[in-house]
Amino acid sequence: MKKILSIVLVFSLLFAFSACGSKTQPTSQAQSETDATDTQAQTNEASSGGKKILTVYFSWSGNTETFANYIHSTVGGDIVRINPVKAYPDNYNDVADYAKEERDNKARPEFKDLGVNPEDYDVVFVGYPIWWYTMPMIMFTFFEKYDFSSKTIIPFNTHEGSGDSGTYDTIKELEPNATVLEGHAVSGGSIGSAESEVKDWLAGLKY
Ligand SMILES: Cc1cc2nc3c(=O)[nH]c(=O)nc-3n(C[C@H](O)[C@H](O)[C@H](O)COP(=O)(O)O)c2cc1C
Repeated sequence: MKKILSIVLVFSLLFAFSACGSKTQPTSQAQSETDATDTQAQTNEASSGGKKILTVYFSWSGNTETFANYIHSTVGGDIVRINPVKAYPDNYNDVADYAKEERDNKARPEFKDLGVNPEDYDVVFVGYPIWWYTMPMIMFTFFEKYDFSSKTIIPFNTHEGSGDSGTYDTIKELEPNATVLEGHAVSGGSIGSAESEVKDWLAGLKY
């Protein structure tokens, strides 16, 4: 009887240790890159362990900001908004005209100091709305200002029908020495209910 009890005890202890180990062992980068089913806690551990992550975005009416906050709450790191030096008009028709003129003139509107240097990060999530079938021109200012060579850029955007409108390819052209991952586009009108969709996309990228 005593022998049976000690065998049961040994197996219980072995089981307890192996279960404990699978929960607390840090996920290595290589492991997280190959295992898309990692839990959130593990992938967060992997992404914050060693890699500096920035989420940077421009948003006029708030949809892209909501998207950015979903990303930041999942991947951690820092988050900053791109604020124009010269504020855009508040009224939709006015900003539509203004933005079209900026696009037609290939304008490079300036933005205020971000408070961080995006080049200091390894992974940069970059978000924007689609304006007139491309990025707002302030995003061209952004990509021309910083050199993301050897960094990873992950684009995201909101829109009302145009998807990414080819902007992920535009970013690849603007940052030829960066690794630009497949981005994600969400319709601005449904961003409020898109948190799980965004998290699924991030999980697919191992975040
Ligand atoms: C000036 C302007 C131009 C726009 N052009 C497009 C467009 O070409 N294609 C599109 O799908 N949506 C277009 N939209 C809709 C925005 O992309 C969409 O509402 C987006 O979610 C707004 O993001 P925000 O709230 O972060 O500013 C435009 C909106 C504005 C204000």
